[in-house]
Formats: sequence, C-alpha cells, structure tokens
Amino acid sequence: MSASEKMGWMGGLLRSQLLVKIPYPTCDLAGQTVIVTGSNTGLGLEAARHVARLGASKVILAVRTVSKGEAAAENILKSCKVPKSNIEVWQLDMSNTASIKAFSDRASKLKRLDAAILNAGILTENWEVLNSMESTIAVNAVGTMLLTTLLLPTLRQSAAKTGLRGRLSIVGSDIMYMADTHELLTEGTIMEKINDQAQSQMAQRYPLSKVLLFYSVQELARRVPLTDKSVVILSVMTLGACKSDLFRDDAGLIKRMVMGVMIGSMARTTEVGGRTLVLSVVPDLPAEAHGRFLMDTKVAKNGNNVDSPAGHELAEKWNNELFAHLEKLSPGCTQL
Ligand SMILES: NC(=O)c1ccc[n+]([C@@H]2O[C@H](COP(=O)([O-])OP(=O)(O)OC[C@H]3O[C@@H](n4cnc5c(N)ncnc54)[C@H](OP(=O)(O)O)[C@@H]3O)[C@@H](O)[C@H]2O)c1
Repeated sequence: MSASEKMGWMGGLLRSQLLVKIPYPTCDLAGQTVIVTGSNTGLGLEAARHVARLGASKVILAVRTVSKGEAAAENILKSCKVPKSNIEVWQLDMSNTASIKAFSDRASKLKRLDAAILNAGILTENWEVLNSMESTIAVNAVGTMLLTTLLLPTLRQSAAKTGLRGRLSIVGSDIMYMADTHELLTEGTIMEKINDQAQSQMAQRYPLSKVLLFYSVQELARRVPLTDKSVVILSVMTLGACKSDLFRDDAGLIKRMVMGVMIGSMARTTEVGGRTLVLSVVPDLPAEAHGRFLMDTKVAKNGNNVDSPAGHELAEKWNNELFAHLEKLSPGCTQL
C-alpha cells in the first residue's frame, strides 16, 4: 500500500471518529429473533443489549464460554427491563467446525430467525493453529464464512414465513484497506502460505483476515442476488475504532497504530460501537447494502485491495480455495 493510500485511510478514520455521530438505534425488533456472536463482552455485548432493548423476543448470545455468556445475560437483564426468557445463551466456538455445525443445526430448529450479527473475532500476532488453520484466519475468515453459509438457509426460510427480509451482518474492519496482500500473490495456494509460520507476517494477519472475509462475502452475495424478499441481505461492516477487549494480546504494529487513535481519545465507546452493529441489521436495511462494506452505517468504498486487478485476482484465488475448503468441512454448504 502506498503512503498516500495509508494517509487516505488514516484521514477517513479520523473523520469518522471525530465528525460522524452514530445514531441511537430506535427500530422496532418486536417478535424478532436475533443472534449475536461473541456477545459476552465488547461490541457484541453492547449490540446484544441494544437488540434486547429494541424488543427482540429472542436474543441469542452465541459465546465460546457459556458461563461468560450467562454473566453477560445477567448484565443485560439488569440494564434492560425485558423478560429473562428473551435472552438465551448458546455455545459456539468459531474455531471449531463441530461447534459451528451444532450451533447452526440448533438455529435451524428456531421458529424464526430474523437477523444475525457475526461479531466474534480475534486480533493477535501470536502464532497458533486452530482447526488446521492459523488462528486469525480460522476464526475471522473461515469459521465466520462457515457459519454464514450454514445460517443463510434458516434466515431465508424464516423470511419466507414472516415476509420480513433476513439480515446477516459480519463485523469486518476498515483496516482491510491497509492489508498487505502481496505475500499471497506468489506461486502456491493461499492456504499453504497462511499456514506456513516461517513465511507469515503476523503483523499483517488481522487486516488480511478482514480483506479475505470481505472477498468471500462479496462472492456469496453475487451467488445469491436479491431477487425476492426471501433473500437475506448479507453485508460486512466496520465500526471504526472502539474501546473493547480486542487488544488483549500483544498485537505489535496494529496495536500501536490503533492504540494511537485511542490514546487521542478518539475511540468510540463500546456502547456506540454496539449501535453500529445493530444499525447494520435493522429491518429496513436498504437492498444496496447486499454484498457491500458498510462504514458509519452507510455503504463505503471497497478500497484498492478489492477494486483493483490484483484484488480481483486474489479474491478469485481465495474464493476458489475457501469454498472448496468449506465444502470439505460441511458438504453442500456453499450450494446456496
Ligand atoms: N474494537 C475495535 O476497535 C474494532 C474495530 C473494527 C472491528 N472490530 C471487530 O469487532 C469484533 C468484536 O471485537 P471487539 O472489539 O468487541 O473485541 P473483544 O472485546 O475481544 O470481543 C471479541 C469477542 O469474540 C469472541 N471470540 C473470539 N474468538 C472466538 C471463538 N473462537 N469462538 C467464539 N467467540 C470468539 C470473544 O469471546 P471470548 O471472550 O470468549 O474470547 C469475544 O466475545 C471483531 O470481529 C473485531 O475484529 C473491532
């Protein structure tokens, strides 16, 4: 990425943090069922609190550790006057195929599923392999896309019954504009490179995970165009820089950059960040959001990592590998 592109990204981020006021969500979610992944803490918890406050009949806290989810449910119940039965805690480990399948099977038995906010994600520079994949890619890109493909049929069936369009929003990051993708455009498969510790630049891993995620969401949205009301609006969103537990690991370069913004007191509060997640699944979300990247609750540019010849090449290569990989994890899941 050139120096001018970096400056452009920083300028856009600063403008967003300083000048954009994120509205307080006021939509009516009465009767609706909404899943929020990674909702025991951070942005997911605040998004789930808004969803509960907005009247959803069922808010599903999809969490890695059930006891943490139960504590989050108690926390939400203390701040929102909603029946206890409106909040459910379901186990979900985004780095574990069996857990993702069990979760989506359970979701397929719901009476209705109106929206899902796939928020769970990690930022780390520590090398770890989960589910045969480097952990950042395993959770942020592969696990998230597996869950997406497995939840879409349930959202679609629900929409056909209720007449209300389903929404699935994935929490990405505008740091995807900054991803250095060059290491992936050389000979050999992307997955081989990602899983080769010696070749991996872990400081680039988080932005890379978010750009790969966006490539595959774009591809899924292309495969399932919004032809009728039962088609789910699928999008990726960013919230800018927010206070949360995301920087729990030592995250080197990225940490220093994002923390620089935070130190300047420009980070949004977790509550405001949570608003942006909810605003990406409102019932009247415009159709133009389908397959797009949302920032400050509006459709934003895709950036040079996506809209360039190199970006197109990489997206095609990644999507071929990823969709074949997902088919191995759960045969038929990409036939949407
Ligand atoms: N904060 C920001 O400035 C910022 C900016 C742009 C995008 N984002 C994105 O926002 C999302 C939420 O992050 P956050 O800032 O709220 O961070 P956070 O406070 O660290 O929350 C991350 C959540 O993801 C969960 N999670 C991580 N790995 C998981 C796994 N394998 N299975 C299930 N759940 C898992 C965590 O659960 P545990 O507590 O059990 O680990 C936690 O609930 C992420 O996708 C992040 O990339 C954040």
